[in-house]
Amino acid sequence: MRVQFTETVLRDANQSLMATRLPYSDYEAILPTMDKAGYYSVECWGGATFDSCLRYLGEDPWERLRNIRKNMPNTKLQMLLRGQNLLGYKHYHDDVVEKFVELSIKNGIDILRIFDALNDFRNLGTALDATKKYANENTVASGCISYTQSPVHTVSKYVEMCKELQRMGFDTICLKDMAGTMSPYEAEHLIKGIKDAVGDMPLILHTHCTTGMAYQTVTKAIESGIDVIDTATSCFSNGTSQPATETMYYALSQYGIETGLDEKVINEVNDFFKPVKQKYVDSGLINPKSMATDAQALVYKVPGGMLSNMIANLTDMDAMDKFDEALAEIPAVRKDLGYPPLVTPLSQMVGSQAVTNVLMGERYKVISKDVQNYFKGEYGTAPAPVNADLQKRVLSDAGMSAPVDCRVEDSKRTGEDFENAKKDLGDLARSEEDIMSYICFPKQAKDYLQARKEKEERTCNYTMEVIE
Ligand code: CO
Repeated sequence: MRVQFTETVLRDANQSLMATRLPYSDYEAILPTMDKAGYYSVECWGGATFDSCLRYLGEDPWERLRNIRKNMPNTKLQMLLRGQNLLGYKHYHDDVVEKFVELSIKNGIDILRIFDALNDFRNLGTALDATKKYANENTVASGCISYTQSPVHTVSKYVEMCKELQRMGFDTICLKDMAGTMSPYEAEHLIKGIKDAVGDMPLILHTHCTTGMAYQTVTKAIESGIDVIDTATSCFSNGTSQPATETMYYALSQYGIETGLDEKVINEVNDFFKPVKQKYVDSGLINPKSMATDAQALVYKVPGGMLSNMIANLTDMDAMDKFDEALAEIPAVRKDLGYPPLVTPLSQMVGSQAVTNVLMGERYKVISKDVQNYFKGEYGTAPAPVNADLQKRVLSDAGMSAPVDCRVEDSKRTGEDFENAKKDLGDLARSEEDIMSYICFPKQAKDYLQARKEKEERTCNYTMEVIE
């Protein structure tokens, strides 16, 4: 029996425990060692890393990827991609999505794990086709399902979704349990059902320790036939992050389960990251809350990141006394929206609408712009029917007779996004990657590119003075 590991310390563990603020320079030195660990893959890019590089770290995300590639030539590098939303929070045009995928592969990505917040697989098609188009011998297109629980999310529905991903042409399937609410019982029934339906297609489980269930769930998933599990080196594991790599390795090896991991190397990796983590615990960037277990998500199905967002918003508005009420409002809003999985950007939308409903003392007195767009159909099809009265109200306010087909707007291939970006950036842009960063995050990318230019001018002047 064989179970392989994806190491998440560079992306999801970093994102879950420390808001994705880990700079590249903090881990460059360990990359050649990690390259010898025997992981199935290292998740190192995508998700919030792109945004965070530009917004907070003054790093070029593409350069980061090229550097990781250079220092880990033998390991499959993996990214998380939000389908038609790429790494941002809105739908991009098909030509932009295609170019982004092309550049990701060109700069070093092997595995593209592609998901849509609503599991509306029309939003995966363009990214999948582009992955196939620009694939090399190492490229893997992984179709990813956002896992959630609701009256409409049954085992047979998930099995149907997996069959659809297989039909579309994905190479592997990943179950993404972002809130850590998948129980061992659910994992068993789900994975057995999926395995029966999709045959040899590799199946991956991604979960979080947030509610304290992950080790039991992962163990049950392995018994039920999962092929790959996501784990984080132990000092960056647990809490809102993934289960620990070395711990799972130790437990599995007693069963004689082959993992391909080198015990000495995975321990070295942890030794390296221990002081890195301590530095951010000391600075306060790693909050003790994110390292703890909180079973509240089992009641409200709310991921940890969404909770901390709500707390921050309510604190800003001096309304923390409404927290419990707002939390209790979430299931109602989620039902009105047709039970979307609570993952970016839906988690933020549902959370802030729930807060608004409570603060206004009346449901939907104010409907946020994003929720209006959701009812207009701009995000795709909801898993279950949405609240018909609310939808009617939003549509008639907008002078629309029916929701839009989300593929109409996305599929525009005008080339204008590229032309406009080039024009806006002028001599700040030196590559297709610069232009792509700007299309995805205009303000952050421009600030970064401006700072890069100024820094180079300073260095250049200094060099001139020294030469003189
Ligand atoms: Co995750």
